[in-house]
Amino acid sequence: MTDRDWARRADQLAGQAYAEGRPTGWFDQLYAEGAAGVIDMPWNRTDPQPLLLDWFTGWAGRQPPGRACVVGCGLGADAEFLAARGWATTGFDLSPAAIGAAGARYPDSAVDYRVADLLDLPADLVGAFDLVVEIFTLQAMPDPPRRQAARGVVSLLAPGGTLLVVSFRATGAVTAPPPFPLTRDDLRALEVDGVVARHVEELPGERWRAELVRGPIRR
Ligand SMILES: C[S@@+](CC[C@H](N)C(=O)[O-])C[C@H]1O[C@@H](n2cnc3c(N)ncnc32)[C@H](O)[C@@H]1O
Repeated sequence: MTDRDWARRADQLAGQAYAEGRPTGWFDQLYAEGAAGVIDMPWNRTDPQPLLLDWFTGWAGRQPPGRACVVGCGLGADAEFLAARGWATTGFDLSPAAIGAAGARYPDSAVDYRVADLLDLPADLVGAFDLVVEIFTLQAMPDPPRRQAARGVVSLLAPGGTLLVVSFRATGAVTAPPPFPLTRDDLRALEVDGVVARHVEELPGERWRAELVRGPIRR
């Protein structure tokens, strides 16, 4: 490496991991190199993702705080945002280095930060959450295992729970993955086990924002 560009390093590590049949096997090394200062920290932000902030502002007005889960929480900005608004929040990520960095960044956090894999979820997370937030994690993996991971996301929802998905939207343009922008079919794959889409928005910047609910639906 001749510079600190984490995105270039991500491409390199992801390419190696895909070739070795480990499609999610590169995130931890990327974060570890970021934490060690070898590269800039990947996905490094402290503000909530703007499409979460905008959505939550309208949605939460109708909703008392409950239990929230941020999938692939990385460095914790979105989990901290929800916890600061009174939600009992769990943030989990495959990467121990990411969870370590989140814990170091927010030492007094109310968030329950966990190392966990969407593809092999701990039983206590399944069916446990009134709000599940998935931002840019499904699109970070090829299929397989993306469909299996999608079932993992859905399985986190308690009855009546809401799932927010924010991702890049596949437009047909050829890109060099990762990411793997989601198709409408990828979003439909989340509509299993009583989960239905409530709003699916095609937003500028080739983004999806989708709100899904697990029945019984509250309106
Ligand atoms: C593109 S990054 C997005 C991070 C964060 N959600 C954000 O918006 O900044 C994808 C995240 O998903 C995590 N991840 C990838 N595969 C995962 C899996 N199977 N289970 C849990 N986390 C995973 C990665 O470690 C990484 O933190």
